[in-house]
Amino acid sequence: MLNPHRIREDFPILRREIEGKPLIYFDNAATSQKPIQVIEAVRRFYEEHNANVHRGVHTLSQEASELYERAHEEVAEFIGAEGIEEIIFTKNATEAINLVAYSLCLRGLGPGDEVVLTLMDHHSNIVPWENVSRVKGFKVKYADINDEGVLDYEGLENLVTKRTKLVCVAHVSNVTGVKNDLRRISKIAHDNGAMVVVDGAQSVPHMPIDVERLGIDFLAFSGHKMLAPTGIGVLYGRQDILRDMEPFLGGGEMIREVRYNKSDGTCRITYNELPWKFEAGTPNVGGAVGLMEAVRYLRGLGMEDVERHESELTNYALKRLDGVDGIKWYGPGPGSERGGIVSFNMDGLDPHDLALLLDQFGIMVRSGFHCAEPLHQRLGLRGSVRASFYIYNLKEEVDKLIEALEEIRKG
Ligand SMILES: Cc1ncc(COP(=O)(O)O)c(C=O)c1O
Repeated sequence: MLNPHRIREDFPILRREIEGKPLIYFDNAATSQKPIQVIEAVRRFYEEHNANVHRGVHTLSQEASELYERAHEEVAEFIGAEGIEEIIFTKNATEAINLVAYSLCLRGLGPGDEVVLTLMDHHSNIVPWENVSRVKGFKVKYADINDEGVLDYEGLENLVTKRTKLVCVAHVSNVTGVKNDLRRISKIAHDNGAMVVVDGAQSVPHMPIDVERLGIDFLAFSGHKMLAPTGIGVLYGRQDILRDMEPFLGGGEMIREVRYNKSDGTCRITYNELPWKFEAGTPNVGGAVGLMEAVRYLRGLGMEDVERHESELTNYALKRLDGVDGIKWYGPGPGSERGGIVSFNMDGLDPHDLALLLDQFGIMVRSGFHCAEPLHQRLGLRGSVRASFYIYNLKEEVDKLIEALEEIRKG
């Protein structure tokens, strides 16, 4: 069992007060707070080991390179990947998805092909595909969701055909918290010869993930939502697929050789091995060290326990929200397959106004579309307020949220 009271001691920011009240941080789906272990690991890196990686023979460069490679190894283990060849470090989940879209645009996708997304996807998993489709002439299709925000699997099955090259889905919705059945989606995709790209931004930080068991081909996620610093993200890709993919960014680090050929006046380029072929330029080494420490911290807690804790908080929050006059929450009910995210509205109040009022109680929540406008459109909403939980959140904090909502309702 997780002990959130003990965990809180590792997070210096949770000692802050806002408006004279203890900080209640319920904006974890946007970004998580950082434990002292991560903050110190990054500080130690800059104080003791800072150098560029893979470029120098000197001691510091060797140390930095070793740390950077070890970070790839520990992330690979964390998600059940075969090895570091399958782990590409990016800036965030958004860049990871763009990497797949633009690399496949260079070689692969074209007229006659189709990419299937869902109406519950984050803009990060919509905009890259729409942009690339305009250049390459393939078609983007959207699988529907029901009124609870749950994916229409039969609709998806009808949408995926032999023309489908990719099925790209969020593992967990950042609005309703709905958790998609990736094994079922992978089967539908693979039966038609399509690959599966998963946006794991809201799942990897919160539950055990095994890419082999899920049968997926790509997985994108962000370090900053899982205790690591901003500016470091991950793309997992199956080795055999990555080997055939063109890199989306070119430059130093991602090449083995650039040879000038006098006879035709061009440079001949040989790419570096995986994963470096996809990591052009100087990477975020400090961020990678922070991510490695974050992964160690989460493994130390146990991802099953992390998931159980958030699930208990979510079920509790949904039940308590039911008792507040004028509140409507979205997504499937307590006990269903959903992550630690609860979006809701209060009758007669704009979501931004409600979030601002909650801020006066020291409660940090998100308001608006949460970068998922099509989902809100489908549910007939002009925005929502979102409370999202993590390892350091307490039932007592949910109680404070309920008290604040009741007070706001009374006016
Ligand atoms: C489901 C989902 N996908 C993608 C992203 C994008 O993450 P980032 O901004 O770190 O790239 C988010 C962030 O909110 C998200 O919730």
